[in-house]
Amino acid sequence: MKILVGAAVALSMTVSIAAIAHEGATGVVKERMDGMKAIGQQVKIMVPMMKGALPYDPEQVAKSAAIIEGHSGETFTALFPEGSNEHPSEALSDIWDDWSTFTGLANELNAKAGALKAVATNGQSEDEFKAALGQMMRTCKSCHSDFKD
Ligand code: HEC
Repeated sequence: MKILVGAAVALSMTVSIAAIAHEGATGVVKERMDGMKAIGQQVKIMVPMMKGALPYDPEQVAKSAAIIEGHSGETFTALFPEGSNEHPSEALSDIWDDWSTFTGLANELNAKAGALKAVATNGQSEDEFKAALGQMMRTCKSCHSDFKD
């Protein structure tokens, strides 16, 4: 019985180690991926509202926009020490070749998330919400197409 329990523990440890190895990312790379994941989750919450699949919820939008704001700008670019794009990072070296464009886009995301938050907290119309979210998502695309694998 003891042997069986031991084997089960060993097996579950192997599984969890494998899961960590698959994620692979550590340190700043993990931190920025986690930040981006959090940003991605917020966008996933808001897109159905933009498409009309869910009712527009300004309180939720304000919360989501604040989370994005908090993971963008200098908070985000501080997690990109030069050359930190080894596997499993999807960051391209162009980031450090064109640092000012990269930081510019990170700041633009910060500003657009702030604008989205303002639309939600100031009771502006649903159309204005849709426009502000669309604007912000354009910044995601610009940065990913130039700086992410
Ligand atoms: C200033 C550039 C920039 C902006 C703006 C940006 N991203 Fe990213 N994003 C990146 C980079 C670089 C990576 C890859 C990071 C890595 O793997 O080291 C990334 C990775 C991701 C990932 C994958 C995270 C993971 O688990 O590996 C998601 C999801 C994501 N971004 C969503 C978004 C969304 C949604 C927006 C807009 C609201 C956005 N990003 C805006 C640069 C940006």
